Amino acid sequence: MSSQIDHLLDENRRFAPDPAFAANAVAKPELYERAKADREGFWADQSRELLDWSTPFTEVLDWSNPPFAKWFADGSLNVAYNCLDRHVEAGNGDRVALYFEGEPGDSRAVTYAELTDEVKRLANVLTDLGIGEGDRVALYLPMIPEAVASMLAVARIGAVHSVVFGGFSADSLRSRIDDAGAKLVITADGGYRKGNVSPLKPAVDQALEDRGGLGPQATVEHVLVVKRGGNDIDWVEDRDIWYHDVVPQASAEHTAQAFPAETPLFILYTSGTTGKPKGILHTSGGYLTQAAFTHRNVFDLHPESDVYWCTADIGWITGHSYVVYGPLANGATQVLYEGTPEFPAPGRWWDVIEKYKVTIFYTAPTAIRGFMKQGRQIPQARDLSSLRLLGSVGEPINPEAWIWYREVIGAGKTPIVDTWWQTETGAIMVSALPGITETKPGSAQVALPGISIDVVDEKGEQVGNGNGGLLVITEPWPSMLRGIWGDPDRFVETYWSMFQDNGYYFAGDGARLDEDGDIWFLGRVDDVMNVSGHRLSTAEIESALVAHEATAEAAVVGASDETTGQAVVAFVILKESFLRENSAEGLANDLRAWVGQQIGPIARPRDVYIVGELPKTRSGKIMRRLLRDVAEGREVGDTTTLADTAVMSVISAQVR
Ligand code: PRX
Repeated sequence: MSSQIDHLLDENRRFAPDPAFAANAVAKPELYERAKADREGFWADQSRELLDWSTPFTEVLDWSNPPFAKWFADGSLNVAYNCLDRHVEAGNGDRVALYFEGEPGDSRAVTYAELTDEVKRLANVLTDLGIGEGDRVALYLPMIPEAVASMLAVARIGAVHSVVFGGFSADSLRSRIDDAGAKLVITADGGYRKGNVSPLKPAVDQALEDRGGLGPQATVEHVLVVKRGGNDIDWVEDRDIWYHDVVPQASAEHTAQAFPAETPLFILYTSGTTGKPKGILHTSGGYLTQAAFTHRNVFDLHPESDVYWCTADIGWITGHSYVVYGPLANGATQVLYEGTPEFPAPGRWWDVIEKYKVTIFYTAPTAIRGFMKQGRQIPQARDLSSLRLLGSVGEPINPEAWIWYREVIGAGKTPIVDTWWQTETGAIMVSALPGITETKPGSAQVALPGISIDVVDEKGEQVGNGNGGLLVITEPWPSMLRGIWGDPDRFVETYWSMFQDNGYYFAGDGARLDEDGDIWFLGRVDDVMNVSGHRLSTAEIESALVAHEATAEAAVVGASDETTGQAVVAFVILKESFLRENSAEGLANDLRAWVGQQIGPIARPRDVYIVGELPKTRSGKIMRRLLRDVAEGREVGDTTTLADTAVMSVISAQVR
């Protein structure tokens, strides 16, 4: 990390806001003053201005039982009504909500009126299937309009969705369905990916297999299946229902009922430092307030004229807040793209931007670095002149990628917003505001109005400008997680115990304040890796590796990678019997594939090194820091605390 800091310290390019942009910008500098003078009053104003409340709230924040926050608790609203019906009622029913672009090239424009209609029908179907307030519904879907409609229909009836990324394995899906106790699964036969149909329904069937004892098969009553891929699938009578057999036939009359602001909206599983993913719980009023506020101000959204595109999958928090809830609450027109950036050829994303005249584009540094590798001639062969704002999310963006993004994609003129936040924070917390902030390549810069952030040392003392430390959030915020599903102790322990005396939320990120007090993120300080902007836990991959019959012991680290930010690198000790009968190389490949099957392809290690020993302290703790040195090809650091100081030279030799 120290070389990274040195490198960032050299970065001193600055980009002042364009006066013409600033003159027409949504965000006004007064926001900061208003929030500083009265933080809760500021959020109350935003919430009243951006959302329609059925019962207006009188109380803003209830922090009487920290860290369990309640925002706007005596108010009630319907989240789906705020994302749909009210836009239709305001005369914007003909505005396009989604420009859907399928990977094979099929496309369809869905207006606000049409999406509202679909969601009402689906809400009626869900009710008929016995889904009611508080019930959990798991979604395992491709990036198609029905996925957006499903999330909103679940929200509309006060139920709770748990979206599982379509790239996760059947086992990952099974444990998530099980943890949430879902009653219904909404899936598709398959979706398009890299030119092929990637099946989804078979994974649902496998996840719901009866393996004895309690399990998801005991709670799931029905599986609602969207036809997308046209692939052959198995069918379980009385359990499985085609979406097209019930939704178009259902009544489009459905009045949205208001629910209290703290009604659970969704659970989203994310990796932590232990093997078991955490079900992050978000609720309604506070979440929607901050999603809408940030989407409008950070992306300078002018809903009547902008075409917005966020490339995230709805299986991640970015897809929840910046494909579904933020943009739709704001009445935005957006692109929904199903496939990968490379199909049928590199440049597909730029074709999409050209086709729909996208004005606001939000993606991840790993994608930008991938495009840099392909060369600027690919985007330069397209007309990208509609773009007026670019966003980045998911991991630190290195200054080179930032500059390339602005020069090549943004014609050297668009503002770039580097947005820092997490599944847990629900919405953007740190970002420049376009038209206001002078931007610095590589720095996420400043806390948004109404957000209180600090960088502290391990004792919770402020480090001050010019120093590095740990990022904390010092005051509750509207879209904060309300807990970990079914595990309040883990919630307190994971996020609030580190700085218990100060009452700070510990984010798990290292950060540095520059001389101006701007924030530069430096990556995770815990055993969470960030691969292509996706969070993975070392412990989860290690437990998948040791579940393989050939493995005796395993240690996983995140090593820096030019394209993906970090890459998964595994060091594995194999059982003697397997080594005798198989080649180490063959076993390493088997293990890579195995992890892909167990968790999902994103978790597949880039490298698996077969070693004879692992570096351990006298108390038996694996020193991952030393393994990271090896994985990154560096000289191995201080080994004096190892039980056997010679072990690192053996490992280094084995890896070479
Ligand atoms: O380490 C930070 C990194 O991603 C983590 C959160 O991951 P996840 O919950 O999957 O959400 C990703 C999308 C919001 C953070 O703890 N991260 C996210 N955005 C940035 C970032 N690191 C640096 N700069 C960012 N802009």
